[in-house]
Amino acid sequence: MSVNSNVKRITTESFRKMKEIGKKISMLTSYDYTLAKMVDNAGVDAILVGDSASNVMAGHETTLPITLDQMIYHASSVVRAVEHALVVVDLPFGSYQSDSQKALDSSIRIMKESGAHAVKLEGGKEIEKSIEKILKAGIPVMGHLGLTPQSIYKFGTYQVRAKEEQEAEELIENAKFLSDIGCFGIVLEKIPSELARKVTEQVDVPTIGIGAGAHVDGQILVLHDMLGMTHEFSPRFLRRYLNLHDEIVGAIKNYVSDVRESKFPTDEESY
Ligand code: KIV
Repeated sequence: MSVNSNVKRITTESFRKMKEIGKKISMLTSYDYTLAKMVDNAGVDAILVGDSASNVMAGHETTLPITLDQMIYHASSVVRAVEHALVVVDLPFGSYQSDSQKALDSSIRIMKESGAHAVKLEGGKEIEKSIEKILKAGIPVMGHLGLTPQSIYKFGTYQVRAKEEQEAEELIENAKFLSDIGCFGIVLEKIPSELARKVTEQVDVPTIGIGAGAHVDGQILVLHDMLGMTHEFSPRFLRRYLNLHDEIVGAIKNYVSDVRESKFPTDEESY
């Protein structure tokens, strides 16, 4: 599995063990070779090639437009960089909801053409047949509940989900369903912390939160958000560890003025 046999690869089995011993799981997104290499070198447990690439990399308003081919392109770039982390790839909108055969075909393409280790999809019981078929083919599946961005036109907003009792109960049922059917983990996005705690206690597989508070088995953030490369998006759950937007813009401004004032290149930088 790994080109470097000294590096221990995180597997879905590691996820199970980490929950068992109470070791928190760290996850980040990546979409390209260069950043994925840094993320992997820093020791993150798992990388999600998220369909948020649709927003972050391509500038779309939603995650809906990204295609399976585009996801495979991003995923293969990430896989080439990674030696340690588990690489999970989002099944994009339209590649798994319509029928279970299509879901399996899409997952097989991701696994075969990118070399990734698992797929993620959004939803619960309503996509049971798709999940079952993918799992039967031996492909690990991660679930995603709460704010599921592929359903943005159903929700109408990106606000916190499952604040009301009925939606919270449905979410708990769906989490149990995903755990019982054999998913190896569940992303919980933008739900009340207390609900995430209940889910985490009631399912056997790790829960990975984003905007779901501290009482989960692990955390995920979008890399470009936590590095401060994006600055127009500032939800309460987002902790920025850097302000790369200003750093990068500052560096580029310096380059532009050096070029304009003939300060770059110098003799030492010339042949
Ligand atoms: O696509 C994505 O980046 C995601 C995370 C926000 C969990 O699904």
